[in-house]
Amino acid sequence: MASKLTPRLFRSALRPARVASRFQCRSFVASSRVGSDVLMVHRDTPDNNASIPFKFNEQNNKLIEEILKRYPPQYKKAAVMPILDLGQRQHGFTSLSVMNEVARLLEMPPMRVYEVASFYTMYNRTPVGKWHVQVCTTTPCQLGGCGSDAIVKAINKHLGITPGHTTKDGLFTYIEVECLGACVNAPMVQINDDYYEDLTPESVVTLLTALAESAKDIETTSSSPNVEAGKGALTGEDSKVKSGADVGVDSGKIYNKASVKMPAPGPMSGRKTCENSQGLTSLTGEPPGIEIFRKDL
Ligand code: FES
Repeated sequence: MASKLTPRLFRSALRPARVASRFQCRSFVASSRVGSDVLMVHRDTPDNNASIPFKFNEQNNKLIEEILKRYPPQYKKAAVMPILDLGQRQHGFTSLSVMNEVARLLEMPPMRVYEVASFYTMYNRTPVGKWHVQVCTTTPCQLGGCGSDAIVKAINKHLGITPGHTTKDGLFTYIEVECLGACVNAPMVQINDDYYEDLTPESVVTLLTALAESAKDIETTSSSPNVEAGKGALTGEDSKVKSGADVGVDSGKIYNKASVKMPAPGPMSGRKTCENSQGLTSLTGEPPGIEIFRKDL
């Protein structure tokens, strides 16, 4: 009996030593690490904390009323996305106070609103510059035209910042994004609500210079009811596109938006939309009429 128990006792005696020698720490993070905590985490800052008051202005309150009419009263939380967007446009970014106000209006737990705002990358949860430059670097934009790598380099050099940063004067925030759905006019960037397409390193620099000039106009017209002083995206109806050389963009057009002269969005190459730049190359002959392939009919 003793001979049977001895190996077992010996093993039991060794177990605490074996367990102690094992590494006992476990990571708190189960998923793969993200390069930045910006997407997941809120940290109070002087310009983004719950004690900063936020209320929707009169114009947006009317819009909210309209939006809420689209949903049955018991499902009004379905309006969370458009109302967050309104908050972002009014405040300049989707701050904690904006999210809390949306939660209050829609009678939702604030956490549910935070979940939405942190899931969709179009909600900027930190302040952005007056011009939010989003450069598409997905494959078609990398391969189309001069390629997005050349555009990224030109922007880096002109603004003196790398993606994910804002210029010191607060005019430009610059980030890289995935496909924006305008691949046929690659390479392209989205700036605030507008697309600028068929870019070259030269035209993107000209565009950024023109936007910096436009910012001065915005300062002087910020008393306009359609333009909020110092805020990111502009609001207001697009009025018209007219010719003009003063902003110097390739297309030679300026865009009169909410009384502010801005470079015209769209292709910077002279194309109107996404038509073939070589002109018509197929289906150029007369239609043959009704084609009959089967002789027996
Ligand atoms: S890849 Fe750039 S818009 Fe689609």
